[in-house]
Amino acid sequence: MLPAGRAQALRSSRDSTACAAKPGPRSVGSSSRSSFPRRWVAVQALDTSALEEQQQQQQAAQLNGNGSSTAHQHRAAAAAGVSRPSGPTATLTDEDVNGMQLDGIQLEQQQQPTGLYVRVRGMVKHFNTAKGVFKAVDGVDVDIPPSSICALLGPSGSGKTTLLRLVAGLELPTGGKIYFDDLDATDLAVQDRQVGMVFQSYALFNHMTVSENIKFGLQVRKLPVDHDKRAADLLELVQLTGLGDRYPRQLSGGQRQRVALARALASNPRLLLLDEPFGALDAVVRKQLRAGLKEIVRSVGVTTIIVTHDQEEAFDLADQVVIFNRGLIEQSGSPNEIIKRPATPFVMGFVGDTNSVPAGCMLVRRSGFNPRLGKARVMFRPSDIRLSKEYVATLDGQQVTPATVNEAANMGWTMKYTLKFDDDVEVEFSVTRAQADKEFKLDVGQRIYVVVPPSAMMEFDETELGSAPII
Ligand SMILES: Nc1ncnc2c1ncn2[C@@H]1O[C@H](COP(=O)(O)OP(=O)(O)O)[C@@H](O)[C@H]1O
Ligand SMILES: [Mg+2]
Repeated sequence: MLPAGRAQALRSSRDSTACAAKPGPRSVGSSSRSSFPRRWVAVQALDTSALEEQQQQQQAAQLNGNGSSTAHQHRAAAAAGVSRPSGPTATLTDEDVNGMQLDGIQLEQQQQPTGLYVRVRGMVKHFNTAKGVFKAVDGVDVDIPPSSICALLGPSGSGKTTLLRLVAGLELPTGGKIYFDDLDATDLAVQDRQVGMVFQSYALFNHMTVSENIKFGLQVRKLPVDHDKRAADLLELVQLTGLGDRYPRQLSGGQRQRVALARALASNPRLLLLDEPFGALDAVVRKQLRAGLKEIVRSVGVTTIIVTHDQEEAFDLADQVVIFNRGLIEQSGSPNEIIKRPATPFVMGFVGDTNSVPAGCMLVRRSGFNPRLGKARVMFRPSDIRLSKEYVATLDGQQVTPATVNEAANMGWTMKYTLKFDDDVEVEFSVTRAQADKEFKLDVGQRIYVVVPPSAMMEFDETELGSAPII
């Protein structure tokens, strides 16, 4: 997807701004933080709660009789440390200002590795709600090496977005620390974090063209780069060359998503945060964009954290997958580690297909697996089932359990069989269509002989699989 030399060109444009560095209003390059020379600093963020916050700010401004919304917008821009943009941004909507507040770009020094090294230590975020204290993030440690891709994966409400917002500086932690390289970034202002952010809603400025959207952050900061060239480079990077003059409403969802990505990258962030960036798109477009995103972030070298509840997305994109549940990390590791060696019953149940059987059933007893006391059930992957169609006493050195093929379901590329043991316990067994046509051609009612290696089994009790948020 990436034209040769494009990433290099984008990197060079970062370097070309080195000599024109301009300190921002809230300098982190001061002596106390000199270990953290800054370059470009950008945050682009707009989500529902940020919108609510903006609306509340505006209401407060109106209630206090502080003039028109335009005046308010000027103040908002000033608060963000940006001069008022001219030209296409002269008639900013509230949404624009909101984007702009979080869109500050500051430019100082150069010579840093491309991606930030992000370390999260003992991170806690509790929300006070009518029902009590809500533990959205309840003690989380994560290490994200520079220029790697980390996926936060977990059920809805498990705290993924909250952690992302904490890293962006959009939420203040209840406890814990965030380090960017060697800097304690816990209290760093949003606009000082060198972060680019893409939200599911994209938050494009609707009355600006695609190019204007991408150039927006560069213009408000008056960054000394060729804005048109940079926008053109970014459009090429996200494969939207020629669409710069269109308005967001004239784009498909996938194209808008790519504009949002280009806008987030315009400021050369050292950390890219993506919250369910493909959530609103259909499966085919998701897959295409996923491939593009991977190539782009790899070529630019930006450290990337992506929040998703889509397993395929997480395992395909990430170097490191962090499995969230109830504000805690269940497991963190490479996609391979998580799939092959799930650390907890929750991970085993959440990732991939599993069979769950009573701990005392025939299959478990005959396998020789000994569940610990109090663990009522045992899980294993359907892919760990071995079977023989002929009677054998042992298979792979293990005593078999007889079963009957109870159902056969044609799932297109796969065949799914339900196997019923003589104690009425049922399990699922899937094979590819090609296998089903050859060695695994099973007929309903047929007797078969099954083993599951004890090493593939994991005991658990039902409470360990719960994902309801904790209050
Ligand atoms: N501002 C808030 N006030 C109260 N509860 C919140 C707030 N933000 C998030 N939560 C709660 O924290 C939990 C985790 O939310 P979130 O991080 O958005 O989950 P995820 O992104 O994993 O779906 C959710 O149950 C959510 O309702
Ligand atoms: Mg979320």
